[in-house]
Amino acid sequence: LTREQVCNSRSYELGCSYSRLFICIGYRILAVELTSSNKKPVVQEFQRVELSCIIKSTTTANPRIEWKKIKGDDKTYVFFDNKIQGDFVTRAEILSRTSLVIKNVTRMDTATYRCEVAAPDDENIADEISIQLTVQVKPVAPRCRVPKAVPVGKTATLHCHENEGYPESTYSWYHNSEPLPTDSKSNPKFRNSSFILNPGTGTLVFAAVQKGDAGRYYCIATNDVGSAKCEEQEMEIYDLNIGGIIGGVLVVVVVLVLITLGICCAYRRGYFVNNKQTGKSYKTPAKPDGVNYIQTDDEGDFRHKSSFVI
Ligand SMILES: *[C@@H]1O[C@H](CO)[C@@H](O)[C@H](O)[C@H]1NC(C)=O
Ligand SMILES: *[C@@H]1O[C@H](CO)[C@@H](O)[C@H](O)[C@H]1NC(C)=O
Repeated sequence: LTREQVCNSRSYELGCSYSRLFICIGYRILAVELTSSNKKPVVQEFQRVELSCIIKSTTTANPRIEWKKIKGDDKTYVFFDNKIQGDFVTRAEILSRTSLVIKNVTRMDTATYRCEVAAPDDENIADEISIQLTVQVKPVAPRCRVPKAVPVGKTATLHCHENEGYPESTYSWYHNSEPLPTDSKSNPKFRNSSFILNPGTGTLVFAAVQKGDAGRYYCIATNDVGSAKCEEQEMEIYDLNIGGIIGGVLVVVVVLVLITLGICCAYRRGYFVNNKQTGKSYKTPAKPDGVNYIQTDDEGDFRHKSSFVI
């Protein structure tokens, strides 16, 4: 190995023997070397950020400086040929020769930015440094879905989600303005309830709703930079009256039997055949009979139950 090869090799950078270090000292100052005060800046959307790239050492008077934006497989120039490029023209500038300042970042700016410096007069003619920029975005008001009415004892799922926030939002639910724990079992105050709240997905699942679960619900999406709330919605819990349902079914059965009997009797007595030409008494005996039965029942209650049965 020649002295140059030793000094240019990666092993020198990673720490090597004292003898190598001694040999290389004269060469070290000839290499262009970059550093950064912050390789992972985090900034909120619409704020200013400095992507720090500092030339620690060089012997070249006018090193060539370039900045590239790297997002997945996409590589674009941000600073090239001594000029800011693309959509950065209006909102970025170079600071202290090598650092890049973005004056108004957007969420689209989240990417890796590479500062590349070429110094032809140096022994090691180039160096580069990568800066990982993260742009944080406040959550927007989440979309919440709360079932309007659920019968006692049934399961119910409440949804809450928003897609703008970065980092991704976590979710909390409130019942009559009181925050809910992630598990109803964890707090004796909620011992009459049975729910699990998933803060990551925003779903609140009741295994079996109780009367006490009725009320107003809303959800809040939160991340490192902000929070947003959805409109409060009412969830109603109603009794499922088994006796009422059976009663309702019986009434329907009785009505059907009576209609059938009515038709049979009419048929046997010859009403059907004889009066067919007139087309009159065929309708009259059966139908009003059935209608009367339904109307004598407590109307609202009956409809409710029968629709549920169906
Ligand atoms: C930053 O950019 C956004 C849109 O990209 C714009 O609405 C806002 O006014 C800008 N803010 C400043 C301070 O220039
Ligand atoms: C739970 O239900 C019982 C009986 O219905 C009631 O007496 C009690 O106050 C309820 N507890 C809570 C914490 O709501």
